[in-house]
Amino acid sequence: MTSENKTELERQMKYIEQCKVYTAAFQVEHGRIPRACVVTFGCQMNARDSEKLSGILEQAGYELTDSEEEADFVLYNTCTVRDNANQRVYGRLGHLNSLKKKRPYLKIALCGCMMQEAAVIEKIQKSYRFVDLIFGTHNLFRFAELLSTVLASEDMIVDIWEETDQIVENLPVKRKYNYKSGVNIMFGCNNFCSYCIVPYVRGRERSRTPEEILCEIEQLVEDGVVEVMLLGQNVNSYGKNLEHPISFAELLRRVEKIQGLKRIRFMTSHPKDLSDELIEVMQRSPKICRHLHLPLQAGSNRILQAMNRHYTKEQYLALVDRIRHAIPDIAITTDIIVGFPGETSADVDETIDVVRRVQFDNAFTFIYSPRTGTPAAAMENQIPEEVVHENFDRLLFEVQETAKSRAALLQGKVMEALVEGVNEQDPAFVTGRLSNNMLVHFRADRRLVGKFVMVILDACHGFYYTGRMVDWLSQTKHTRLGKMVDNQWLN
Ligand code: SAH
Ligand code: SF4
Ligand code: F3S
Repeated sequence: MTSENKTELERQMKYIEQCKVYTAAFQVEHGRIPRACVVTFGCQMNARDSEKLSGILEQAGYELTDSEEEADFVLYNTCTVRDNANQRVYGRLGHLNSLKKKRPYLKIALCGCMMQEAAVIEKIQKSYRFVDLIFGTHNLFRFAELLSTVLASEDMIVDIWEETDQIVENLPVKRKYNYKSGVNIMFGCNNFCSYCIVPYVRGRERSRTPEEILCEIEQLVEDGVVEVMLLGQNVNSYGKNLEHPISFAELLRRVEKIQGLKRIRFMTSHPKDLSDELIEVMQRSPKICRHLHLPLQAGSNRILQAMNRHYTKEQYLALVDRIRHAIPDIAITTDIIVGFPGETSADVDETIDVVRRVQFDNAFTFIYSPRTGTPAAAMENQIPEEVVHENFDRLLFEVQETAKSRAALLQGKVMEALVEGVNEQDPAFVTGRLSNNMLVHFRADRRLVGKFVMVILDACHGFYYTGRMVDWLSQTKHTRLGKMVDNQWLN
């Protein structure tokens, strides 16, 4: 740990102590522990940030709740990748305002990517005066300090940084799951895809050192974690700017050596930087899951170039061929945008052609959303949404058909699943995740959550399976019996 990191960590821990004075006073006044609710919008990176924010709130003396209705502190960790993410936040803020009218001591805080946009801050300061605290993505590690300030203040506190080069390690974390965890390996993005706002709101790419990452994973494993998801906007460029550069494939090799860790996933891979070294490491690894999320975005070379993606349709297809050749049982999923400025039906035909050829196991399809400040938003040939819909529906049909046929290939097979939770519809069932990221629902005891079991995939329902757990106990009895009989014969 650097001395800069140590000092900042110590400062924040002091602020947590100050917050505890407030939460203790709250308890005396209200006869109960104050409750905090953290709501996450957006990607896995935001979900991991929310675990850090929750960790600080818990240490500060809050009880965590999923219910905004019963919370005394509500924190929205926002996303701005597409406009509908923003609209959801504004919609829910209206509801929070009515809650605050009933309970004036309710504190409302906003953070995350959306807060890095000047226009958003202006709008909230003008039309959402009841918000108490606003901070951004770069000063998340200062949350304890901001919390202690806002708890002692009646004013709206706004603290947004333009950038940071600091990575503060070892702040408290409250994990959502006992058995799996996200692990940040890098922050920010340098790719500037022309439609994307992430580089503007998350800043330049910064990698954590392999030592810090390995140390965190070792601690997680000691704490019962069996699966990690390594997180970065473009994991394939991990480590390039470190003092001692290291490749992502090499990082994976080191992570793999951690005893007790069973499964490794990662997100997201930019096709332009995916190396043969990575394919080789994945091929050899018993721990790296048989799943690769490889965003295509578009199949037309003209559009890919306008998107600043740095690969062609042909290069993407060749890459998929190399991956499938080396790892035949891998599931490949993708992201696709429809309606990028200037995109014609013929361009979408190219995308559909890639979908048919690659046979994606799943694809997330998005309607292009212009983001202020990005080059694509300033392009002249924006396409009206009504026109986009027809192309979007055509693509969605193909994506669903190919995904269904891919899933059908595994029907009847026996595979290992990590039990992730009790089924929401029927508590006699649990939901497990296969190495290829597909879900399977089967009847089993809830005490198996966090454990690996073998499951027969009886029926495929498009995006998930229903199955049966393989009853190893009865199988073992049979073999034992078999052996005993053999031995008797021998005697
Ligand atoms: N770093 C990741 C993606 C992060 S954003 C990567 O490069 O793949 C997740 C997805 O949102 C992107 O893959 C893209 O498909 C979609 N997306 C990003 N900006 C968008 C926009 N302006 N409109 C519509 N979809 C967008
Ligand atoms: Fe956005 Fe492109 Fe960076 Fe992904 S790689 S976060 S799509 S700019
Ligand atoms: Fe959204 Fe920020 Fe993630 S914009 S997708 S939460 S990096």
